[in-house]
Amino acid sequence: MKLAIGSDHRGRDAALHLEKRLRDAGHEIVAMAVLGEGEIGDYPDAASVVGRSVASGEAARGILICGTGLGMAIAANKIQGVRAATAHDEITAELSRSHLDANVCCLSADLLGLRLIEKIVDRWLTIEFEGGRHQRRIEKINAIEAGEGD
Ligand code: RB5
Repeated sequence: MKLAIGSDHRGRDAALHLEKRLRDAGHEIVAMAVLGEGEIGDYPDAASVVGRSVASGEAARGILICGTGLGMAIAANKIQGVRAATAHDEITAELSRSHLDANVCCLSADLLGLRLIEKIVDRWLTIEFEGGRHQRRIEKINAIEAGEGD
C-alpha cells in the first residue's frame, strides 16, 4: 500500500521504526515527514504533509505520531478529505477503519510502546470499511466539511 508517515520530535523514533518495518513488509512510503535527529518541530507541519498526501491520492493512507496522537488528529482533520482518528489499541484501530473509514491513523509515542504501535498499525492497515449505515454517517461528515447547512 502507498503510505505517508509523519511525526514531530516526540514521535520521531517510532515513525522511523515504522517506516523500516512497513517498507520491509512491502509497503511503499510515498511521503515521509520527520525531523532530523535532535531537531524540535511542530506537529501541524507533519500533519499537513501527510494529510495532503492522503487527500491528493498520492498516499492511500497516512500514519502520524506525536506525543499524544491528539494534536496530529486535530491538525490533519482540517484538510478536506482527511478522516484522522487517534488509535490507542487494536480495538480503536479496527473501529476507526470499519466504522469511520479513517484514512489517517494518529498514535501517541508517549503512551504506547513500540510493540503496541506495531500491532495497532498492522491491524489498522488490514481492516476494510464496512459501508452500509456507516457510509450515511460519513456522508453527513462530508456535508459538514462542505459547509452545507451553514
Ligand atoms: C509536543 O510537545 C506535543 O504537544 C505534541 O507531540 C503532541 O503531544 C500534541 O498533541
